[in-house]
Amino acid sequence: MRLLVTGGAGFIGSAFVRLATTQGWSTRLVNLDKLTYAGNLENLTAIESDPAYSFVHGDINDAPLVKRLLEDERPDAIVHFAAETHVDRSILGPGAFFETNLRGTFTLLEAARATGIARFLHVSTDEVYGSIDEPDDADETYPLKPSSPYSASKAGSDLLALSYWTTYRVPVTVTRASNNYGPYQFPEKLIPLMITNAIEDKPLPIYGDGMQVRDWLHVDDHCRAIWAALTKGAPGEIYNVGGSRALPNRTVVEMILDAVGKPRSLMTTVKDRPGHDRRYAITTQKLELATGWRAEADFESGLAQTIEWYRANPEWAVRVKSGAYQEYYERNYASR
Ligand code: NAD
Ligand code: DAU
Repeated sequence: MRLLVTGGAGFIGSAFVRLATTQGWSTRLVNLDKLTYAGNLENLTAIESDPAYSFVHGDINDAPLVKRLLEDERPDAIVHFAAETHVDRSILGPGAFFETNLRGTFTLLEAARATGIARFLHVSTDEVYGSIDEPDDADETYPLKPSSPYSASKAGSDLLALSYWTTYRVPVTVTRASNNYGPYQFPEKLIPLMITNAIEDKPLPIYGDGMQVRDWLHVDDHCRAIWAALTKGAPGEIYNVGGSRALPNRTVVEMILDAVGKPRSLMTTVKDRPGHDRRYAITTQKLELATGWRAEADFESGLAQTIEWYRANPEWAVRVKSGAYQEYYERNYASR
C-alpha cells in the first residue's frame, strides 16, 4: 500500500512508520508532521534512509499542502495520527486541540473528499466514552461522554470523520484505543514520566488517590490493530482496541519503582486533575472477530522492556525533557 501518515514523528505514529516500513506493509510511505513539542525525528532514525520513505514537515491544516501531497503521491490510504494528545495540556490551553484535532481533521477529510482516497483510518481514543462505571465495559455503541477538552476534540473529530462516510462515502474507519505504553513515549504521560523521574530520583506525582483505572496496550499491538482495521475492517465502522490489562495507577507506579529499584517513598500525592476520569474499560471483540487481531504483549514484560529502553537511551529523555518541557512541568505541577 502507498500510505500518507500524519503525525508519524510522534509516539504511536513513529512506531507505526517503523513497523510499516520494515514489515512490508507499505511500498511507499509519506509522513506529514508539524514537529510540535511531541514530534521527534530521532524516533525515526532507524528507517529515515529507506528509499520508500519520505518526511514532509508541515501542518495538516495547510490545505494546499495536503491537496498537493494527495495529488502527487496518490496514496491508497491516509492513516491519521496527528493530534494534540495530552489531557493536562488541554486543560491548561485547549485552543491547539481545537485547531489540530477538529479543524485539522476537517482539512484532511475535505482533501480526501476532493481527491478521492481508497481508505481513511482515523486514529482515536477510548477517552471519548468518558469515565465508565463498573461493571460496564464500553463497546463501540456506548454513548460518548468526553470529560476533557482533549477527549471532546477527539469525539468531535470521530463524528465528523464518520459523517464523511455517511454523507460523501469517503471510506473512513475509526479505531478507539486504550492507554498506550512503550519506547519513545513523550515523558508527559504517566508511564514514561514515572520511569524517567524514578531514574532521576525525582518525586513521582500521583493525582488524587491514584486509584483511577487505565487499560494498558503496548504500542506495537496498537499499530498492528490499526493495520488490521485498515486492511480487514470495513469503512464506516468503529473498532475499539484494548490491551485487556486494567490496573490502578498506583499499582503501575509501584511496579515501575520496584523495577527501577527505587523506594516507594518517591511517590507524592498531588492535587487531582480537574474532571479526571475514574475508569476506562472497553471491549475489543469487534476488532478480534472482524480481523483476527489479538493483543500479544503481556504487561509485565512490555513494561520491563519499556523501562529498559529508557535506561538504555538516557540522552533521548534528557533532550526531550530540556527547554520547553521544563516550562510545561512547572505550569502543570508547581501549583498542585
Ligand atoms: P504524540 O503527542 O506523541 O504525537 C503527535 C504527533 O502529531 C507529533 O509528531 C506532532 O508533531 C504531530 N502533530 C501535532 N499537530 C500536528 C499538526 N497540526 N499537523 C501535523 N502534525 C501534527 O501522540 P500519540 O500519543 O502518538 O497519539 C497519536 C494518536 O493516537 C492521536 O490521534 C491520539 O489521540 C491517539 N491515541 C493515543 C493514545 C495514547 O495512549 N497515547 C491512545 C489512544 C489514541
Ligand atoms: O485512553 C487513551 C488516552 O490515554 C489517550 O487518548 C491520551 O492521548 C493519553 O494521554 C492517555 O490519556 P490519560 O489521561 O489516561 O493518560 P495520562 O498518561 O496522562 O494519565 C494516565 C493516568 O495517570 C490518569 O489517570 C492520570 C494519572 N496521572 C498522570 C500523570 C501525567 C498521574 O497520576 N500523575 C501524572 O503526573
